Amino acid sequence: MATQLDGPASGSPMAGAADEVIRTVELTKVYPGTDFKAVDGLNLSVRRGEIFGLLGPNGAGKTTTGGMLTTRVIPTSGQAFVGGVDVVAHPALAKQVIGVVTQHNTLDRALTVWENLYYHGRFFGMPAKDARQAADQLLAQFHLEKWGKASVFALSGGMAQRLMVARSILHQPDILFLDEPTAGLDPQSRIALWEILGVLHAAGQTILLTTHYMEEADQLCDRLAIMDHGRILALDTPAGLKASVGADSIVTVHAAGDLDALAALLDRDIDGVTSSYVLDGGIRVHVAGAASVLPPIVTAAERGGFVVQDLSVTEPTLEAVFINLTGKELRD
Ligand SMILES: Nc1ncnc2c1ncn2[C@@H]1O[C@H](COP(=O)(O)OP(=O)(O)OP(=O)(O)O)[C@@H](O)[C@H]1O
Ligand SMILES: [Mg+2]
Repeated sequence: MATQLDGPASGSPMAGAADEVIRTVELTKVYPGTDFKAVDGLNLSVRRGEIFGLLGPNGAGKTTTGGMLTTRVIPTSGQAFVGGVDVVAHPALAKQVIGVVTQHNTLDRALTVWENLYYHGRFFGMPAKDARQAADQLLAQFHLEKWGKASVFALSGGMAQRLMVARSILHQPDILFLDEPTAGLDPQSRIALWEILGVLHAAGQTILLTTHYMEEADQLCDRLAIMDHGRILALDTPAGLKASVGADSIVTVHAAGDLDALAALLDRDIDGVTSSYVLDGGIRVHVAGAASVLPPIVTAAERGGFVVQDLSVTEPTLEAVFINLTGKELRD
């Protein structure tokens, strides 16, 4: 058993990657009764200490990927390693080195807030004294001291999520898996959780985060993979991904009339348009190297007989990257 934790044997798929803490090799999942690959030949490498993101729309395969890495989902083919441990061959060992926050509330409703932490430590083999100390310390760190004796039913969504994160790190896992950690939270709770993740990151915690919020991926992740239909479409730093769009302005135009015709017209008449898309009742135009983009767009549209109802310009976002790759919006 020790060899798994001490490091990869030479010749194993983990060999030669000292700071690599997650690796997948052609990892694939086909759920029974389905005829498509929920995850399709995934090759991923996550380094120690980074926040790595899986960004993709509903059904992209984010939870399935996390599920296989955390032993909940059995891969159909391929391999996955966490901390050098093969998750299929040694699931119990793999569980020792990971912390998991799932997409749904998994707090034990029969226990108090403090007990949810304490018994988690005991379950992971911590002596009672250590589990007690860790539970006390984490309640304080996550600003939940006042709620220690309360039922978990008393917690707001944001507090319950904080408690799940506290619980997931209590046994000091090498790698923390967070599946859509801020989905459904109010903006204040979301920011509070982002701050917590920042503190954990600064302390060296490796985090694999799945999200469909592009702002979250952009702000938190050192590197991220954009996923759709079980495949990685692009993988880089947020800045690298945004630079890959090859545009410096993203213009959204809302207008009445034939939007396909308007998109074609702007494509033809405006300098620096690299691509244009008809999306969500408007047009998205990617523009590069134009000093001033809005006036010529309005002029061209009006000359073409369109009435522009709304116009906005932003820098490239991760959503622009997704649109460039798939032709559709991240949120649809
Ligand atoms: N237990 C299951 N049985 C059959 N199909 C499943 C199962 N779980 C997921 N799927 C399918 O696999 C695909 C990937 O789902 P997955 O939950 O991994 O996506 P996701 O990126 O996490 O999406 P979301 O943003 O909705 O959480 C989807 O098409 C989904 O319907
Ligand atoms: Mg999911």
